[in-house]
Amino acid sequence: MKKKIVILPGDGIGKEVTACGKKVLEQVAECFGHQFVFDYATIGHEAIEATGSPLPDTSLEKMKNCDAILFGAVGHPKYDNDPSAKVRPEQGLLKMRKELGLYANLRPIKLFDELLEASSIKPEILKGADILFFRELTGDVYFGERGRKDEGKTAYDTMIYSRYEVERIAHKAFKAALTRGKKVTSVDKANVLESSRLWREVVQDVARQYPDVEVEHMFVDAAAMKLIQNPRGFDVVVTGNLFGDILTDEASQIAGSMGMLASASIGDTVGLYEPIHGSAHDITGKGIANPLASILSAALLLDISFGLKEESEAVIKAVEKTLREGYRTRDIADANTAHEKILGTEVMGNVVC
Ligand code: NAI
Ligand code: MG
Repeated sequence: MKKKIVILPGDGIGKEVTACGKKVLEQVAECFGHQFVFDYATIGHEAIEATGSPLPDTSLEKMKNCDAILFGAVGHPKYDNDPSAKVRPEQGLLKMRKELGLYANLRPIKLFDELLEASSIKPEILKGADILFFRELTGDVYFGERGRKDEGKTAYDTMIYSRYEVERIAHKAFKAALTRGKKVTSVDKANVLESSRLWREVVQDVARQYPDVEVEHMFVDAAAMKLIQNPRGFDVVVTGNLFGDILTDEASQIAGSMGMLASASIGDTVGLYEPIHGSAHDITGKGIANPLASILSAALLLDISFGLKEESEAVIKAVEKTLREGYRTRDIADANTAHEKILGTEVMGNVVC
């Protein structure tokens, strides 16, 4: 199979982990006789420095003309403490999602048995947890009208959803549930928010088309609690952009670390694959970032965009084997991990390869 993949490293540890994801894809190509052609594009702080734009047109063009995208993360401390910055790395991220129509962000939360002891949650609560999040990605308060009034003394963001936006993500979630545990939990805040009342109404309508799937509606605050209290109670979760952003960072603790969670952003055209974490300035340049989220994102890419199930499974097996043999990056090491088995980013990636 011949495919063109755009690598979008971005900023901070995005660069460090995507290098490992790419290496794994190269290894897959070699082992299975595929031809993957790679091209690079810029986004985020790096792109702002080089061109003034967080997402240059040249990057967007490359992404529109490839078979799949492997993305790292964007962000730089410079902007985090400067709310007045007009041009920001995250604008590149939002523009990319919107322009490519990537409205569904799939975030599988699965704990590798090898990491049961590394989590801060009790193993008996965690064992067997397997959740698939569908986070809506191109609507909500991230894209609603925003601004300042009263001479800047008041600020507002608008939480907004249309029936169509909720319908298409709900269908994706219900279809996925049919292939899994046949349960969908829809998370909203319908007791307070009008946009959530529409969300719930639409999900109820869509649910009627899937009589084999059990549907449950949950308020986001309760969902935040239940995720940690009883993660096995969830199968597929569908929720809006903001709630999904927050709940999946929380859910990363079920999988042991932010460095373990991969995601797939899909829409009607090209698919984009990225870890759920950000550019992690606190560990950038130290060579200690966990590359497994990027590597597992590459596995999702092989499966979802290329239909290469066996290859995707081979990558996941390689990650499992790496963990079983005791290799850890610092974020997933526990008191029992032998010093020499705590690896840096690059070596961890090489072991998986
Ligand atoms: P973050 O996700 O970058 O980091 C949160 C914490 O998790 C940090 O302590 C970090 O060291 C740790 N962590 C994250 N990924 C890890 C990995 N692979 N291995 C080991 N530890 C890992 O979120 P934070 O610190 O809130 O934001 C940093 C920057 O990233 C900000 O500028 C933010 O805007 C940006 N960001 C970008 C995202 C994206 O590009 N998709 C998503 C989230 C944040
Ligand atoms: Mg986030």
